[in-house]
Amino acid sequence: MTKFLFVTDLDHTFVGDDQALLQLSDRLQSHRQQYGTKIVYSTGRSPILYRELQQEKKLFSPDALVLSVGTEIYLDGSNHPDPEWSNILSQGWDREKILAITEQFPELVLQPDTEQRPFKVSFFLKAELSSILPQLEAELQKTQLNIKLIYSSEIDLDILPHTSDKGQAMQFLRQKWKFAAKQTVVCGDSGNDIALFAVGKERGIIVGNARPELLQWYNQNLADHRYLAQNHYAAGILEGLQYFGFLK
Ligand code: GLC
Ligand code: MG
Repeated sequence: MTKFLFVTDLDHTFVGDDQALLQLSDRLQSHRQQYGTKIVYSTGRSPILYRELQQEKKLFSPDALVLSVGTEIYLDGSNHPDPEWSNILSQGWDREKILAITEQFPELVLQPDTEQRPFKVSFFLKAELSSILPQLEAELQKTQLNIKLIYSSEIDLDILPHTSDKGQAMQFLRQKWKFAAKQTVVCGDSGNDIALFAVGKERGIIVGNARPELLQWYNQNLADHRYLAQNHYAAGILEGLQYFGFLK
């Protein structure tokens, strides 16, 4: 066994089955202790909502925390986002200009204040209204702002710097810690996780309960380095880690 970089989404991926979560947490923590494996949680949640989940599920401390859909990276338990990463994202990013355009779309409902972050503007958008997305994107692109749109779970719309998402944040950590792509494994269940699987050749575990948008992407992009688990949530992750030989 050798060390690897483990990156996982939280809601409906790492978290969802309490018993499997305990089992997986044990395996990962002892692997970390024995081999120096690094563990990263990568979630759409803001610091406040992450803290809630962390306390509710008693999540153990990761080596890095990627919050707000890849726009904030916290290393070694720090309370301050990594300034090197924030600096990369700030180029050409302008929240006010984004809001001036999104205001023209009544279909967009702002998410709670806690989920509005320095490099993330988030809305609820009902699936039946999601046909506005191309037009919204075209309006935003006209301003030549540094942005990208990510639509997840048929309700969440995030606008982020185009230099950022879960995939690019993962690559930043992978390069910082010098893990090869084949010694890195990423896990997810929904739209904002596609970036984790699409960015390179990291090993990918799609949990059995994955949402239609991710399953569709998976089926259109079949590759040996991605695995669709039969089991759900943390049990699906355990299954995938064994499939790739990261765990016995
Ligand atoms: C989390 C965040 C929300 C975001 C969603 C999808 O639920 O709280 O702001 O839109 O993930 O990325
Ligand atoms: Mg999820």
